[in-house]
Amino acid sequence: MTRTRILRLKINGHEREVAAEPNAILLDVLREGLGLTGTKRGCDMGTCGCCNVLLDGRPVNSCLVLAWDCEDREITTIEGLLPEDPGALHPLQEAWAETGGSQCGFCSPGFIVTAEALLREDPEPTETRVREALSGNLCRCTGYKKIVEAVLKAARSGRGVEVGS
Ligand code: FES
Ligand code: FES
Repeated sequence: MTRTRILRLKINGHEREVAAEPNAILLDVLREGLGLTGTKRGCDMGTCGCCNVLLDGRPVNSCLVLAWDCEDREITTIEGLLPEDPGALHPLQEAWAETGGSQCGFCSPGFIVTAEALLREDPEPTETRVREALSGNLCRCTGYKKIVEAVLKAARSGRGVEVGS
């Protein structure tokens, strides 16, 4: 007997229905069940932050969260941060591009989602605060200097919380 059931999830401001087993993790449901592949799979064990999404506004490792526990919660993925204007970038994405915060870009969605949560809470963070907030995110290629610069740049321009807040 299958224990799969249909979940009703609120994702990026829309109600979505998706079938999930009781042990399905949110990361798999987002990527494979709903086609939201902006959220990346890295370590699968809660150490890299590639899979970060916002759950009720707070960053979480979606590889450690059971999808069944996400009903009646507000889920925001990197796709949900994009402006409605096609081709437009989120202010943090613009800052990433301007500072060179991405090389392969694999880690960028997780960093940007985490930075968005920080800037909603603290629109003018210190460098120390930015580094603390991003301490659960790993980047294998760019190095952290440009990533931290990107967050500070978005904050300085007051652009970090324009979208998705
Ligand atoms: S894939 Fe979830 S923290 Fe690395
Ligand atoms: S830009 Fe490649 S892992 Fe961060």
